[in-house]
Amino acid sequence: MNIFNSLFSSLVFSFILFHSNALNVTHDSRSIIIDGNHRIILSGSIHYPRSTAQMWPDLMRKAKEGGLDAVETYVFWNAHEPARRQYDFSGNLDLIRFLKTIQDQGFPVWLHNMPGVSLRTKNDVFMNEMKNFTTLIVDMVKKEKLFASQGGNIILAQVENEYGNVMEPYGDDGKSYINWCAQMADSLDIGVPWIMCQQAAPPKPMLETCNGWYCDEYKPNDPNTPKMFKSWGGADPLRTAEDLSYSVARFFQKGGTLQNYYMYHGGTNFGRTSGGPYITTTYDYNAPLDEYGNLNQPKWGHLKQLHDVLHSIEYTLTNGDVRNEKLSNLVMATIYQTKEKSSCFLSNTNTKTDANVNFGGINYFVPAWSISILPDCREEAYNTAKVSAQTSLMVKKLNKAEDEPRSLKWTWRPELIESTSVQGRGDVSVNKIVDQKDMANDASDYLWYMTSIDVAKDDPMLNGTVTLRVNDTGHVLHAFFNGEYIGSQWSKYGDKNVTYVFERNIKLSPGKNLISLLSVTVGFKTHTYNKLKTPRILIYNRIKIMQNYAGITSPIELVLSKNVIKDLSSNKWTYKVGLNGISNKFFDTNCASKSSSKWVSDPIPIDRNFTWYKTTFKAPLGNKPVVVDLLGLGKGMAWVNGHSLGRYWPSYIADKNLCKTETCDYRGRYSDSKCVSKYHVPRSFLEDGENTLVLFEEFGGNPSYVQFQTVEIGSICINTHEGKEVKLSCQDRPISKIKFASFGSPQGVCGSFDKSEYDSEVDVLSILEKECVGKESCSFKITEDKFGKPSCEMKKLAVEAVCKDFTF
Ligand SMILES: *[C@@H]1O[C@H](CO)[C@@H](O)[C@H](O)[C@H]1NC(C)=O
Ligand SMILES: *[C@@H]1O[C@H](CO)[C@@H](O)[C@H](O)[C@H]1NC(C)=O
Ligand SMILES: *[C@@H]1O[C@H](CO)[C@@H](O)[C@H](O)[C@H]1NC(C)=O
Ligand SMILES: *[C@@H]1O[C@H](CO)[C@@H](O)[C@H](O)[C@H]1NC(C)=O
Ligand SMILES: *[C@@H]1O[C@H](CO)[C@@H](O)[C@H](O)[C@H]1NC(C)=O
Ligand SMILES: *[C@@H]1O[C@H](CO)[C@@H](O)[C@H](O)[C@H]1NC(C)=O
Repeated sequence: MNIFNSLFSSLVFSFILFHSNALNVTHDSRSIIIDGNHRIILSGSIHYPRSTAQMWPDLMRKAKEGGLDAVETYVFWNAHEPARRQYDFSGNLDLIRFLKTIQDQGFPVWLHNMPGVSLRTKNDVFMNEMKNFTTLIVDMVKKEKLFASQGGNIILAQVENEYGNVMEPYGDDGKSYINWCAQMADSLDIGVPWIMCQQAAPPKPMLETCNGWYCDEYKPNDPNTPKMFKSWGGADPLRTAEDLSYSVARFFQKGGTLQNYYMYHGGTNFGRTSGGPYITTTYDYNAPLDEYGNLNQPKWGHLKQLHDVLHSIEYTLTNGDVRNEKLSNLVMATIYQTKEKSSCFLSNTNTKTDANVNFGGINYFVPAWSISILPDCREEAYNTAKVSAQTSLMVKKLNKAEDEPRSLKWTWRPELIESTSVQGRGDVSVNKIVDQKDMANDASDYLWYMTSIDVAKDDPMLNGTVTLRVNDTGHVLHAFFNGEYIGSQWSKYGDKNVTYVFERNIKLSPGKNLISLLSVTVGFKTHTYNKLKTPRILIYNRIKIMQNYAGITSPIELVLSKNVIKDLSSNKWTYKVGLNGISNKFFDTNCASKSSSKWVSDPIPIDRNFTWYKTTFKAPLGNKPVVVDLLGLGKGMAWVNGHSLGRYWPSYIADKNLCKTETCDYRGRYSDSKCVSKYHVPRSFLEDGENTLVLFEEFGGNPSYVQFQTVEIGSICINTHEGKEVKLSCQDRPISKIKFASFGSPQGVCGSFDKSEYDSEVDVLSILEKECVGKESCSFKITEDKFGKPSCEMKKLAVEAVCKDFTF
């Protein structure tokens, strides 16, 4: 549905946020029509489960201020119906509350496991479930009168997603299914248009989408196309403000009228909600609003300016005649013209070569890979490569609420892993290896596979060296033999190469021998990876992988020699889902545990696997977002006051050269684990008095480095050309100092600017000190009158200002 990609889900709604009185939503070949007016729609994805209800109003306010008309979300079937016909709309799953303040992880695992089900095709079991859930949601929304046709704010709904890309292998059944979807959706009678993304020639009355008014043929062929999902062990996705605004401006230049950012706010995958494999807990996405809801500057501001310019020419864009004029190699003017007005785009699609072009008798400088917008076809109001929005460098500060900068005091208790690995007792026994998804039904990351083998006294295996060989499709395996730990293994880069073979030598004894294997999954694959080039392959893969195996698979063998191999796959295997401490809710401070182990204070073990740690802390003062730095820990899960912060895995760090400093963009000394060791603790999880942090450590780590921090703007910068109107703002704090200011050809980037020999003689720093220090913001135009005459042609002003520390 947009050029950036969207996940697939059974049901997607789009919402117009800020036109509350819309009633009649229709469309023609050009655009959406709201109450008779053609509209451009700038929309952004914000997924309600990835933030908290307390964050929603602020996110919405910042989205609106950033120039969005609409917010789009999936409806998360798997979260709302975690077990069949058991619904959850509480907390951050309160869909109606989210809609009133103003989409797919995929299908729930129980659905995969229904007998006879076949997903996304003509299959009665699936269609019945899909209709049931879709009806439930539509009824809830209707009851609250939230569709535009009822006076509410929902202008579009989507059924299925990107099915066009996957339909082919389904054959005629795929066609029947998509027709059924259309009829089913239509029968729900919602009074606003239904759309189908990536669906060429969708059945009526679905809106024709691709090749039409918002499905641009343009594909980002920029070699820097980002990796859109951040994986454990992978680098952060990074897409510059310049490139993102370029792709959006290009889309509108080519006749687009509806644009959706995936994501506008990425947020956090709390609990076990991150998809997989290996999708991290942070879902920051390098989006215009960062994980914590802060403005990601300059991206947010640069896009806001673009949105404002596009809105100012909305009428011309949606009603005007269009023509193109070639200006030079790969430089093109697009003119939109109505009787009253014309508006122009100048695009330079050269990746390296800047252009100086003459258009309508005026000279324009259009940098490589950029687009200028001239609302009156004369004056440049915006260029995607000329960023005048400020850059904000965020800093993380120690929690000042703690009296002394002391380390936290910890207690601990073991996970009683031996009780299972030694006894081999479980819940279910079957004479085969079962898919972890089927057995665990997504109720836990952890699943035990256990079997006992009887070795006769004359078995030749008693004599030689025997290797236990386990075929594993991911992700982590801990193996025990006769109650003793014999080793662990996990797949690197879970998305690419999950399968591996685990091998350890063991010494069999005559009589009973027990093999206990603990398999751990780190999210299931239901997502698309934008890295692959052709969408068709991409999504086909995705489905294949979704239906793939998880956990241990056959064969599991005892190998004495090349010829003497005992396959244990059809032995009697006993399964147990989950871990003792999780079932007994060690993380829940209100819940008295029945477990025999107790929290103890001394000594705190370090590098001990399968260990629970607990500490108390005071909430940081103020209202700045809070993070906990889990540097020093291995892999596990964290909870604050019983709320899950998600999985953590700081020991699995990105490759040094993948993880550039800009991408892990918070200041401070760089270390390669910086990117993945901070976890968002939403303010609404915290209480005024004492708060409790509980960690479950699977691999072994050291909790003494754990720290609570707040995230705030440290300093702000401008690095912009002459003629621009700029603003420096510390938001709700005063500017305390101008650290650097120079006009001319200053070098470097925010945080390390340097003067050049061409810079003006005027004391720019003193001028800005007078104008800005002590104020929360200051604005001015960059002119020679103000800042003097540098001896270079392209003149830029670079400023770094420091925001005042909060003292409590
Ligand atoms: C809704 O708008 C369309 C197109 O602008 C128009 O043809 C139609 O009559 C309108 N319907 C109502 C109920 O006003
Ligand atoms: C969904 O199915 C249940 C039975 O499993 C039924 O009671 C309920 O009415 C159905 N809901 C809808 C909206 O069709
Ligand atoms: C083990 O090896 C010894 C000596 O090599 C031999 O005498 C014995 O029969 C073997 N036992 C089995 C069970 O193969
Ligand atoms: C392990 O399992 C995978 C998937 O079932 C299979 O493709 C592969 O051949 C197996 N590996 C071995 C060594 O048997
Ligand atoms: C945990 O670590 C200890 C010490 O390194 C090791 O002996 C033990 O077997 C490990 N157990 C597991 C399940 O990883
Ligand atoms: C997957 O892992 C195997 C064995 O470790 C290795 O030989 C192979 O090159 C890997 N494939 C990819 C795509 O990384």
